[in-house]
Amino acid sequence: MQRVFSGIQPSGVPTLGNYLGAMRNWVALQADHECLYCVVDLHAITVWQDPATLRQQTREMAAAIIACGVDPERHIVFHQSAVSAHARLAWIFNCVARLGWLNRMTQFKDKAGKDREAASAGLYVYPNLMAADVLAYHATRVPVGDDQRQHLELANDIAQKFNHDYETTFFPVIEPLIIGEAARVMSLRDGTKKMSKSDPSDQSRINLTDETDVIASKIRRARTDAEPLPSEIAGLEGRAEARNLVGIYSALSGISQAEVLAEYGGQGFAGFKDALAALTVDKLAPIAAEMRRLLADPGHIDRVLFAGAARASAIADPIVAEAQALVGFLPRPQV
Ligand code: TYM
Repeated sequence: MQRVFSGIQPSGVPTLGNYLGAMRNWVALQADHECLYCVVDLHAITVWQDPATLRQQTREMAAAIIACGVDPERHIVFHQSAVSAHARLAWIFNCVARLGWLNRMTQFKDKAGKDREAASAGLYVYPNLMAADVLAYHATRVPVGDDQRQHLELANDIAQKFNHDYETTFFPVIEPLIIGEAARVMSLRDGTKKMSKSDPSDQSRINLTDETDVIASKIRRARTDAEPLPSEIAGLEGRAEARNLVGIYSALSGISQAEVLAEYGGQGFAGFKDALAALTVDKLAPIAAEMRRLLADPGHIDRVLFAGAARASAIADPIVAEAQALVGFLPRPQV
């Protein structure tokens, strides 16, 4: 059985983008894979996080993963900082990856913005830690949204260079799984920007915890153009906002984009937005309710995460120990 690994940063409330691009696929993969899903708090602090908020958001993210349908008994849900193998392998990868490779990462450029000198060193080496996350488990399949594609290509470059430098075949090739009609959900305010849990504008996104009326109002107010919806997919060309809403509708309903346009093409956005709002509420309300139920007992969430971390360590520790031996480190003492 192939091993799946994926992660999500506790840097805000999970959004519809996280759900459609990643978490929904995480749930589907459980049937025929061994899955590890990680709340990546080490990644989150590459930009400033208030400590109390980080604690809260880590539990919230764990609750969201479970509420979406991940089974933490059959699979593994844990927080990254509790498994030291990630940081230990990341250090080795810091020494394998080349500056030239990191300089090409578009996410660093986006996140660091104009004042690159003021970005944390962690933000720069972020992709090396991400490679370590996956490779510490010898995971081969990684379900993510489209924005993570470049990072996973880099992870494969790192694995290959490690194998080459140490004359081994130790690290496997990773296959990114970028699935579905909404692998890149865009902001509701600007169809050229991705929907993000860390966007300063709450109107730009649907949070999994949004109340029904908030979801409806955000969708009704979502930016669109003045033309009616096209009847065919080719008519979405150059209309980023329309394309985004049609993609979301298609992903949530399981109906192809062509069929969505066959139904709503030629009409203005008002009726389509009402239908999209109803569909979104229908899919997200049960998840929000389950999240609230889980979050009422934070002790339970902590126990799930601790148990997951112990099981994750049991897989990763021997793999990272072997990587360390290949590098030439003496063994760690048994404690
Ligand atoms: P993060 O926390 O930004 O997002 C978590 C997952 O959600 C997907 N996603 C989206 N998909 C579609 N449309 C969007 N607007 C959208 N926004 C986010 C992301 O692609 C991701 O799959 N670096 C990762 C976390 C990570 C990771 C890993 C992932 C750390 N280590 C190892 C895979 C394997 C990140 O910041 O995701």
